[in-house]
Amino acid sequence: MPPPALRWRDDADAGPAVVLLDQTRLPTAEVELVCTTPAQLVEAIQTLAVRGAPLLGIAGGYGVALAAARGLDLTAAARELARARPTAVNLATGVARVLAAATTSGEPGVALAEARALHAEEDAASAGMAAHGLTLVPDGARILTHCNTGALAVGGTGSAFAVVLAAHHAGRLTRLWIDETRPLLQGARLTAWEAAGHGVPYTVLPDCAAPVLMAAGQVDLVVVGADRIAADGSVANKIGTYGLAVAAAHHRIPFVVVAPRTTVDPTTPDGAAIVIEQRAASEVTTLAGRQLAPAGSAAFNPAFDVTPPGLITALVTEVGVLHSPTADSLSDLLGR
Ligand code: MRU
Repeated sequence: MPPPALRWRDDADAGPAVVLLDQTRLPTAEVELVCTTPAQLVEAIQTLAVRGAPLLGIAGGYGVALAAARGLDLTAAARELARARPTAVNLATGVARVLAAATTSGEPGVALAEARALHAEEDAASAGMAAHGLTLVPDGARILTHCNTGALAVGGTGSAFAVVLAAHHAGRLTRLWIDETRPLLQGARLTAWEAAGHGVPYTVLPDCAAPVLMAAGQVDLVVVGADRIAADGSVANKIGTYGLAVAAAHHRIPFVVVAPRTTVDPTTPDGAAIVIEQRAASEVTTLAGRQLAPAGSAAFNPAFDVTPPGLITALVTEVGVLHSPTADSLSDLLGR
């Protein structure tokens, strides 16, 4: 069994720490990264040693607990953690939730208890998403997914990947098509590693090959996660998702988004209001430290894109399935 993606450790000698499975080293090495300060955790978030919207929320919550356990300035630590990456709403809300609990109570241990509660809730949400998502999977399904939405990115067994796993366990999955997910290859490195670990039959493909598979009738369902869902149902997810949704619509293939309700952000009105993280040019112009494009090449490297609600067949959360989500149905969902 590989170590968990994230755990809290309170060592009598070394003191409190957030221990991460360093995702930058997967799949070739399973190495833990020990963060003993919020600043180290911020760096781990920015380098994607820990990543994925719901897991970032959990990490941010434990980061505030770490600041509390070390007697640091909670507000300052929370500010740095929350702004480590801008797009996944869970990071800011996870941090804010634990900070609010700690400052309201003032009791030692409250921050850690709240972070643990958030972690447990996200684990439970994963089971709900799996059960509801399974209702959309036909027998013999060939499912295509993008990026990484398993236990490395979400509580429990994941969001979109939890649905894949449920389909596999129910005997309904023929094949999982995994987009490699340029430029940081979360699909090829992480989703394929998780699929292999669970015995899921899978094939990795270059992102640009997905429409070819669709045209050949080899895809029954596209299932992806989300980093932020605006009030109008627009979905920010890993760059490449929007193109997949357009191709799926052209080929009349259901396009399903799976995310916990914590990823729905009623304070962001629409897709245009979602802040998209822009990452370093070197992630595009180099590969594993080797120069690909001529030195000095400019690169366009948005980490996420936005899929409009009209391209989304269904949104699966832990409380059920919203077919063709709208602002009204999303608002009802949050009220449940
Ligand atoms: O940049 P990342 O790896 O943190 O991106 C997040 C993602 O893994 C995806 O966008 C995912 O589909 C949604 S988060 C489970």
